[in-house]
Amino acid sequence: MRLLIYGGSFNPPHRGHVDALRTAAEHIRPDRILVIPAGIPPHKILAEGSPAAEDRLRLCRLAFSEIPGAEVSDLELRREGKSYTVDTLRELRRTMPEADLFFLVGTDMLLYMEQWHQFREIFDLCTLAALPRNEGELDVLRDAVDHLLRTYGEEVLLIPKAPLPMDSTTLRADLPCRRGRERLPESVYAEIVRLRLYGAQPDLDWLRERTVPYLKPTRVPHVRGCEQEAARLAALWGEREDLAAEAGILHDITKKLSGEEQLRMCEKYGIMTDTFEREMPSLLHARTGACLARELFGIGEEVFDAIAWHNTGRPGMSKLEKILWLADFTEPTRAFPGVDRIRELVSRNLDLALTEALEMTLEHVRRSGGTLHPRTEQTLFWLRSEDKET
Ligand SMILES: [Fe+2]
Ligand SMILES: [Fe+2]
Repeated sequence: MRLLIYGGSFNPPHRGHVDALRTAAEHIRPDRILVIPAGIPPHKILAEGSPAAEDRLRLCRLAFSEIPGAEVSDLELRREGKSYTVDTLRELRRTMPEADLFFLVGTDMLLYMEQWHQFREIFDLCTLAALPRNEGELDVLRDAVDHLLRTYGEEVLLIPKAPLPMDSTTLRADLPCRRGRERLPESVYAEIVRLRLYGAQPDLDWLRERTVPYLKPTRVPHVRGCEQEAARLAALWGEREDLAAEAGILHDITKKLSGEEQLRMCEKYGIMTDTFEREMPSLLHARTGACLARELFGIGEEVFDAIAWHNTGRPGMSKLEKILWLADFTEPTRAFPGVDRIRELVSRNLDLALTEALEMTLEHVRRSGGTLHPRTEQTLFWLRSEDKET
């Protein structure tokens, strides 16, 4: 039985890793593939803010599910102390004495081979298979292979094809800047965003695509308009544009659900409802939307609050909350009497725009014989009293 082993910190596992393993598997034709994420790698310290071992394990399972037959093992993560390859190979040799072990390494690892813990024994336990990490590294790798052969008489299997060039350090730096998505398998990226690992912020194009199934097609132009307007207002009023856009993209993701479904979601998320909301459950889409957006996309508190209060408002609203509320009201597809007055006001005075928009809403609801949610009335009261103080 031929067993191909691929170890590394996989922090995070990216397309380069998957491609490397696929390439190696094509060369070695193993009967089994074992991916072994390292607990504490011996050659480097895990970067600060690295996810917990179980998160890296889960990311690896998602990443390598693309390769038929690849299993991800927690062997090194379970072991105390540093993850020495020799210990792993000994353990595998013990449990599978009949297997031919192939251990896959990249250029950087092979170059430091002689510094590995008990490296001579590694050659006895397995065949090392080396592949370049980047184009142009093949010569360096060949030299390293020759050196090991000349000095120790040890053979290394050279796989001459470079996989996709990628490195985890750059990727970790890019994720908080809403970049790096194309370098990760889709399922890995989604999980990183959901748990906001590595301080990741979602790529906004990706977020738009991912939310389409949650929207009625007729609502998409409104949501796009709201996103753009929220980003514009954020730029104008010194708020983070990307957060405003994120809130805009996500603000109506439960809007298409029925009243019954809204109430079910409130139960699921532990949202307390009042009589008013139970009678008009469509109002709840703001708060259920915030909870769903957090569950699916790991939104932070600011975006959560902006979405949660985007219809009723609330006393003490933050700037981002006001921006989303107003963007929802004035985005370009809105066409009702008075909207142009608010459009003109939002660029001059955010609070005044919100006060007038709320008054307009109150007036409209009263004329049609309804009442506003008490929270909206309280918001208006709060805005007016704030106004007096300044
Ligand atoms: Fe809404
Ligand atoms: Fe909306």
